[in-house]
Amino acid sequence: MSRTIDLIADTGIAERARKSRLPAKLDFWQSITGLFLGLFMWGHMVLVSSILFGKNTMYVVTKFFEGKYILGQAYPGLVSVIVAFVFIVFIVHAGLAMRKFPIDYRQYKTFRGHMDMMRHTDTNLWFIQAVTGFAMFFLGSVHLYIMLTHPDQIGPHGSSYRVWFGLMWPLYLVLLFCVELHGGIGLYRLAVKWGWFEGANPRQSRKNLQKLKWGLTAFFLTLGLLSLAAYIKIALYEGEVRLQQPYMPASEQNQPHAGIQPGGEYYLTMQVEEGR
Ligand code: HEM
Repeated sequence: MSRTIDLIADTGIAERARKSRLPAKLDFWQSITGLFLGLFMWGHMVLVSSILFGKNTMYVVTKFFEGKYILGQAYPGLVSVIVAFVFIVFIVHAGLAMRKFPIDYRQYKTFRGHMDMMRHTDTNLWFIQAVTGFAMFFLGSVHLYIMLTHPDQIGPHGSSYRVWFGLMWPLYLVLLFCVELHGGIGLYRLAVKWGWFEGANPRQSRKNLQKLKWGLTAFFLTLGLLSLAAYIKIALYEGEVRLQQPYMPASEQNQPHAGIQPGGEYYLTMQVEEGR
């Protein structure tokens, strides 16, 4: 006989409790979007760190994503399309993750009580993930919105200008720690949850995974900090006025330049100044 319970407290609305696959499906999508974002962030950090190899290297990377080497001209709008997709995945992931947050002080205290009692590494990691995830709602959205609306200002000069003169460096500093902790823990928890790399001795593989996780987090944090320092160094060395001019490699100087501006306008310029 089925049992009827009062599902919505104090409303008098009673419904039959049913088995539902929805929580499992939502969990699956949370994992998929998290996996995508975690791997994306590793790739993103490698691309951002191209500045460590010089302004020219980062210029080539940004122009590649603007389609210059395939379409013959740079279309910054293409970057906006990629950002829009990442932004949507980011919002979906955040929405799905919100289900797991404590909804009131009582739930929070219960969780903290369990966490203090168990002293279990993976439970502590969950807490770090919830806090950094919450911070990223705000910090990540600011960054993604700027990337979405100003794709033409990504490059050795534009990025250095934004980091230092645009005062983005404090936000990036906090976001960097949040994203590396959150992403590293997230990918580790995914591997444990779905049993990837479990092998014959799950206890030992979990320990190995934890070591790998901290190693990767340390690596990407160092890469991020060094890149941030490189953007700041360029800004201090070149100065505000110079960075407002787009970077142009020596090989492309004294040549006419054509492209489409974000507004759809066609431009043709000639830069004769010597690049640094
Ligand atoms: C397609 C989407 C994205 C693009 C095109 C992009 C692009 C960039 C670029 C060009 C920079 C260099 C600084 C600047 O130009 O302002 C940067 C830095 C940064 N981005 Fe992104 N980003 C994207 C998504 C994200 C996401 C989803 C996060 C995390 C939520 C993130 C976190 C960061 C951090 C922490 C830095 C500073 C890196 C450092 O310390 O060296 N980005 N991003």
